[in-house]
Amino acid sequence: MEKAIRILGISGSLRKQSYNSGLLRIANEMVLPGAFMEIFDLAEIPLYNQDLESKMPESVLALKAKVRTSDAILFATPEYNYSIPGVLKNALDWGSRPSKESCWDNKPVAIIGASTGSFGTCRAQYHLRQVFVTLNMHPLNRPELMVGTAQDKFDLDGNLIDMKIKQKIKELLEALIAHSRVLCY
Ligand code: FNR
Repeated sequence: MEKAIRILGISGSLRKQSYNSGLLRIANEMVLPGAFMEIFDLAEIPLYNQDLESKMPESVLALKAKVRTSDAILFATPEYNYSIPGVLKNALDWGSRPSKESCWDNKPVAIIGASTGSFGTCRAQYHLRQVFVTLNMHPLNRPELMVGTAQDKFDLDGNLIDMKIKQKIKELLEALIAHSRVLCY
């Protein structure tokens, strides 16, 4: 029997009613043949400070341990000023340190994102792909999922109400699972 693929979902938004966390929640609720998912919350990750590298904060150690035991990462990124939010970049920076102990190295990864603008995080997603180069992560190329005008696709609590997007998330997860199997096993 094939080993189950462990997917770790990480949202780049700390907002309670976040559309991006809403996307991850829907993904997390799906029953995926051959895989299971969990979510890591970045709320406790402090701002990166190189002085703390010799004694990493507990929350950073927890993030790194969770990433290491996961087979694939799913980032849900907001777009802030045409790029990825500081919360997400901060977590990527912590996880990449010390330089020979990056938790991101060689991990299969996929991106989803929702924004209130009409381009649906595409600029943030392509910046994130650029960061994957230095992190030596292996991004899923297709399908892409960029949810624009998110205010029309989620309710006031940040729950997805557009079921076409739910189907796209399912397709993306299936592709990520297949991608991870090729790379890892
Ligand atoms: C934004 N927003 C935004 N949207 C977009 O499509 N392109 C952008 O460049 C920006 N820039 C931006 C900067 C800052 C500082 C904020 C706070 C917001 C709007 C953004 O899409 C919206 O706030 C989303 O709701 C953020 O995602 P979450 O928090 O709902 O997941």
